[in-house]
Amino acid sequence: MPYFTDKQTVLEDIFSRYPQTEQGRRSALMPLLREVQNALGYVPEAQMEEISTLIGTTATEVKSVMSFYSTYHTIPTGKWHIQVCATLSCALAGSDALWDDLTETLETVPGEVTPDKLFSVQKVECLGSCGTAPMLQVSDIGYAECVTRKKLHTLLEHLKNGGEFVPDTRVPVFMQGGQQLDALENEVGGRTADLEPLPMPG
Ligand code: FES
Repeated sequence: MPYFTDKQTVLEDIFSRYPQTEQGRRSALMPLLREVQNALGYVPEAQMEEISTLIGTTATEVKSVMSFYSTYHTIPTGKWHIQVCATLSCALAGSDALWDDLTETLETVPGEVTPDKLFSVQKVECLGSCGTAPMLQVSDIGYAECVTRKKLHTLLEHLKNGGEFVPDTRVPVFMQGGQQLDALENEVGGRTADLEPLPMPG
């Protein structure tokens, strides 16, 4: 079932941000992917095809763009998608042990969603928070930094019990057409732990 059939207003809004040219249409790729992922939690093959038709390219090209960014998912994710940075600073600070602890506690592996649909996990490359290693990102919300075993378990219990994720630092991802500059402007010393958590899609 096509995703955008009954979402003409959404499409018009996204395409209006770019020049009305062939190239301009193709520039809408990432916000279109974001729109689908925010709604479904991932971008299915059918929507890659749909988006490629909308912007005048191929599904292969859509897929290749998605594969470049760890923020896009081609398979279903849990309500909380936990990405553990495995690059040098985090590795030196213990991200391997953190990853083992995470996957053993949740009894899951990459590509799976836990039976309660709450969690999925992924190892990723540097998330740009090397000074607070080891760190992880939860969904598109933000970072948990300087993650100890205790902090990890407290976080997992909190989320399992229906709590919202309150990041140490938010991710300035694109949602609803703009960067979350409001959150960035409110940062104090680079940390936003006191801000309200963002609403989860779905
Ligand atoms: S190495 Fe982990 S955030 Fe950069």
